Amino acid sequence: MKAVGILGSPKKYGNSSKMLLACLEELSNLGFETEFVYLQERDIKYCLGCGTCLREGECILEDDMRELKQLLKDSNAIVLASPVYFLNVTAQMKCFIDRMLEFGHRPSLKGYGGSIVTYAGVGDPKAVADYLSRVLKSWGMIPVGSAIGFGVMPGEVKGADVEGARALGREIARAFKEGAKPEARKEDFLLQEQLMSLIKNYRDVMKADYEFWKNRID
Ligand SMILES: Cc1cc2nc3c(=O)[nH]c(=O)nc-3n(C[C@H](O)[C@H](O)[C@H](O)COP(=O)(O)O)c2cc1C
Repeated sequence: MKAVGILGSPKKYGNSSKMLLACLEELSNLGFETEFVYLQERDIKYCLGCGTCLREGECILEDDMRELKQLLKDSNAIVLASPVYFLNVTAQMKCFIDRMLEFGHRPSLKGYGGSIVTYAGVGDPKAVADYLSRVLKSWGMIPVGSAIGFGVMPGEVKGADVEGARALGREIARAFKEGAKPEARKEDFLLQEQLMSLIKNYRDVMKADYEFWKNRID
């Protein structure tokens, strides 16, 4: 069993990484093989919006996303961590999420997920963490929870917040062990309906998506 932590902060030794590493350490203690991905040092180009991944099945860009997508496919748990930047996730995290478009249209990742968000007291970090959980769900993962941390200076995030990240690790391991089932919410049905309608109406261009879903659509 494998767990991957994706760090969206440009700071390798900041608040988000402190919490993410604590979460991964807990998962490692519970028997997971863990991997830490620092997006900042990876070659990840912006999504071009060309739609090739929806039509042909694969992205045309040749960069580290190829390796990262395979890593995520091989994982049983994914933790997304980002500081709040202007009331949302960082550009690094958003760029990574955009490049996962094919998984949003053809949810095929399996396993459990969690989100970690740090902030300096302005805005609603829970909304950002919920956004990351919705992203995980759109890829096919089952999000089990989130941890929030407060910090202005790098590494300032306090013990209780770091403990929250450890608790998230335990929660993910527990969900994995028990084979927890997804919780279907009204929003999930609505998003699914909207996606089906989009793919049905644009089946000629979203060919790979249509192939994936055709039994459900027809
Ligand atoms: C460009 C930028 C924008 C930020 N925007 C917000 C914000 O909207 N709300 C907030 O509470 N903190 C904001 N922060 C502060 C960081 O979220 C906070 O310090 C966080 O703990 C940093 O985490 P890190 O050490 O993992 O990078 C911002 C920081 C930067 C550099």
